[in-house]
Amino acid sequence: MRATQTEIEEAVEALRAGDLVVFPTETVYGLGANAANPAAVAKIFEVKGRPPNHPLIVHLDNPRYLHRWVAEMPPAAEALAAKFWPGPLTLILPKAESVNEVVTGGQDSIGMRVPSHPIAQQLLNAFGGGIAAPSANRFGRLSPTRPEHVRDELGDAVRVILDGGEAPIGLESTIVSCLGGRVQLLRPGFITRSQLEAVVGPVALDGPAPRSPGDRATHYAPSTPLEIVSSDDLELRAGEMVARQEKVAVLAMRPPLQTQRNMTWINAGKRPDAYAHHLYNHLRTLDRAGCARILVQSPPQEERWAAILDRLQRASGMAEDSLELSAG
Ligand code: TXA
Ligand code: MG
Repeated sequence: MRATQTEIEEAVEALRAGDLVVFPTETVYGLGANAANPAAVAKIFEVKGRPPNHPLIVHLDNPRYLHRWVAEMPPAAEALAAKFWPGPLTLILPKAESVNEVVTGGQDSIGMRVPSHPIAQQLLNAFGGGIAAPSANRFGRLSPTRPEHVRDELGDAVRVILDGGEAPIGLESTIVSCLGGRVQLLRPGFITRSQLEAVVGPVALDGPAPRSPGDRATHYAPSTPLEIVSSDDLELRAGEMVARQEKVAVLAMRPPLQTQRNMTWINAGKRPDAYAHHLYNHLRTLDRAGCARILVQSPPQEERWAAILDRLQRASGMAEDSLELSAG
């Protein structure tokens, strides 16, 4: 999957002119601006409706340009970068003096990622600089995994949308802070805590991490209320809603015991990678079904499901104080 030379040239021209470009990554679609142009970066916040104190990730095609953005690479960060880049990992590092605070939301750290998606690589390579990019959704909504999600939600606000089809992973990158001599997992993702620990030893789940301040609104969320329900209770809860003449949406890991009118049931299966790949698209589909509630079958308490569980909890408003941490 590659973009044509013309498409890449058009996108690079837009970035150089201070406009926004949507591009695919292996995780989700990004809403990109020239990270060295504060006015262009400010447009990202405007288009997303994102509070200015939520820092952005800067994307590079190659770690050899890190020194332009990062004051210092702690040894743990070096090891993680060597193992997982290019790939779905974001490292929080001490920022270089010259980095504009529009990008970092006023923090003295910066999020860096080297994505592996061939179109992201093509774009970054042709542009030759850093691209600041959050997920290409409006603040607090589900991240886009297909170009049509972006067109529906952001439409005319972006000059170029590079079409890479479906994002392969479908969930946002694993975020790891390497500040202050410790390694801390800030957002679970495709790269699991065990995989990180195999490289750098113990990885903390909480502690004095950099926090993006923000309100406690629900994030990564559909507009329909979402609730996580055990497999045993799915039919019961759905049945109660149907009895009240309410339409109900269900995202499960198995088929229904029996089908019912007024019930939209998606069986997303039992394989975590495939489940993650389709998750946001399924939630968008169920959100459009005009239901009173989305019931989601509680996923297994296993590491391979950790990122999925995290996003489902955020979507349900259940995530605790980590809620605002990875929002937007
Ligand atoms: O997979 C991804 O990470 C996608 C693709 C486009 O790369 N990007 C993405 O960006 O999910 P965004 O902005 O939607 O989420 C990035 C999260 C935000 O919650 C932000 O607060 C956090 O990373 N973040 C960025 N820089 C940070 C910093 N210096 N300190 C703490 N958190 C930071
Ligand atoms: Mg986001």
